[in-house]
Amino acid sequence: MTAEHGSLTVGVIGLGHVGLPTALGLAEAGWHVLGADDDQARVGKLARGAAPFYEPGLGELLGRKLADGHFRVMARPADAVAESDVLFVCVSTPPREDGTIDLSHVKQVAELVGRHANGYKVVVEKSTTPVRTADLIIQTVQQLSDHRMDVVVNPEFLREGRAVHDVLHPDRIILGVESDRARATMERLYRPILDRLPAPGECAECERIGRRHAAGERLLITDRTTAELIKHTANALLATRISFINMIADFCETTGADVAQVARGIGLDPRIGPHFLHAGIGYGGSCLPKDVRSFIRMAEAQGVDVSLLRAVAEINERRIERFVDKLRQTLGPLSGKTIGVWGLAFKPGTDDVRDAPSLKVISRLLAEGATVRVHDPQAMDNARQLLPQDSRRVEYCASPYEAATGAHAVLLLTEWDEYRALDWTRLRRVMASPVVIDGRNLFDPLDVRAAGFEYIGIGRP
Ligand code: UGA
Repeated sequence: MTAEHGSLTVGVIGLGHVGLPTALGLAEAGWHVLGADDDQARVGKLARGAAPFYEPGLGELLGRKLADGHFRVMARPADAVAESDVLFVCVSTPPREDGTIDLSHVKQVAELVGRHANGYKVVVEKSTTPVRTADLIIQTVQQLSDHRMDVVVNPEFLREGRAVHDVLHPDRIILGVESDRARATMERLYRPILDRLPAPGECAECERIGRRHAAGERLLITDRTTAELIKHTANALLATRISFINMIADFCETTGADVAQVARGIGLDPRIGPHFLHAGIGYGGSCLPKDVRSFIRMAEAQGVDVSLLRAVAEINERRIERFVDKLRQTLGPLSGKTIGVWGLAFKPGTDDVRDAPSLKVISRLLAEGATVRVHDPQAMDNARQLLPQDSRRVEYCASPYEAATGAHAVLLLTEWDEYRALDWTRLRRVMASPVVIDGRNLFDPLDVRAAGFEYIGIGRP
């Protein structure tokens, strides 16, 4: 992409899983982007061209954008505020114990903007925040600044593991705006991305997920509160689909039906579609679990009946116990048993283990006296920070085969591609007993059973 779009400078405050791909995507679109983050170690790493987390294609894009000067990392966030026309707020919004969201980082950025703005700025709420946070941001900014400013709500829909793709080929750009000036600025900012969308057939990932609609249909302008609600509604519906299919998987197990076929059978109906109908050990990650809980708290505070979403969250929480039950039913008491674990990341394509189902499963195994041998292609270092430090109980292994060695059963918890083509005969030889419990329905039961294994999936006969 080229830089022929005038002279907007974009500041991105918070360079995490949302902020960094957003910053680099806008830099790739031709804008000059200034990134800032409170974490000085992260800032130093980025300035040297090292991506602070694993995300396919991100390190390469970072290197190119630093080299061509479109992305600069600022040591002082205040400088990014002063130099930018548009400021993206991408800081974390962690959940509190009661499910409500801690907005202190968002508030700090609003104060920073209020103190250091030297003229009109468009402040963009990108972090996922409760409804009406935009009002809080603009009030905070305007209390501290005499310069008139606008706040735009522009929620992020990128998927971890596909972040670079999703920023450059977005299925939608939602702009919650309340001024013509802010709207014009944001439309201009996103124009190069919309102009460069792939034509049908050009991008394999867009084809895979059916992202084919024309650029004109991808931009939706709403008021700010509606934009905030769109974000929450999207994640709530995705979570609902997952809990729904998991409920159906339980039904399949009692009747001998196959949930994967049920999902395929209903997904062929274009009104339903095939996505987010993979049964398994439940949804994890830093978004869906937190966003569903916070949606419930927000809606209940307004007196809205969200018992549907309460059920979604409860079904998800019960997945872990139900999964460990399958293991108990096969092996009996887990005390003294060795369990191999394949996959720690909350989903493939990332090294992120925040709210990962794997960690909950492993905690249960350890609590019941088992020893675990774990493997993940990317997430071992992050898991090490969160799992117990006792090396006799948790062993980190260099390969799926090493994790299976001496194990009474192996559990597949993340459906990494590299687990698709395992040598089952070799595994049969190294394991203490040949049991596989497939928490993501990754394997073909016939292959695994043919190698002499007991195979247990989710909602499969
Ligand atoms: C999710 C949304 O999909 C993004 O659109 C959104 O931008 C993002 O949250 C966010 O709010 O920032 P992400 O957290 O990257 O993205 O992960 P998902 O792909 O949604 O997966 C979430 C969890 O659901 C994973 O643990 C995954 O294994 C599980 N899942 C997903 C299933 O169990 N079954 C499925 O069919 C799909």
